[in-house]
Amino acid sequence: MTDSAISPNIVRVSAEAGEPGARRAFLTAASAAGLAYLAALAYPVYRYLESPSEMELSESAVTEVTLKDAQKLPAGSVLMYKFGTRPALLIHHLDGRWISMTAVCTHLGCTVQYQPQQDRIHCACHGGTYNAYTGANVSGPPPKPLTLYKVALNPTGVLVSRT
Ligand code: FES
Repeated sequence: MTDSAISPNIVRVSAEAGEPGARRAFLTAASAAGLAYLAALAYPVYRYLESPSEMELSESAVTEVTLKDAQKLPAGSVLMYKFGTRPALLIHHLDGRWISMTAVCTHLGCTVQYQPQQDRIHCACHGGTYNAYTGANVSGPPPKPLTLYKVALNPTGVLVSRT
């Protein structure tokens, strides 16, 4: 290839990029893309850094939750629900007891699961386990028990409230 074969293309591209309208459009598009990228990065950081006291305030504003038709939950099964913004468990044990507790692991905040075969609460993140009746931390890294809620059955549902 010779220089003369390449030169016309280079000159033409440079001339197009140098046009004020094209440059302005490129800068506008690049700025918009940059802002969108920054927003996409900033939102998770904002959520992570959100003040714990603000989160506690919004959590404490919710004192009870009514779970419509949850009284029909068969024995030996669990219902996952939201208490405010946080996941929670309602367990109807085989012995007839109804237990509800937060489903947020006290180690690093993963959502825990009820395992009916072992009749325990398990956190898959690091293998922590809790007692499915008391919420007590039994094994693994969780430092504290899960918070229990008060459960009251009525003909239309289950009322779960802070103790
Ligand atoms: S987050 Fe549950 S054991 Fe680590």
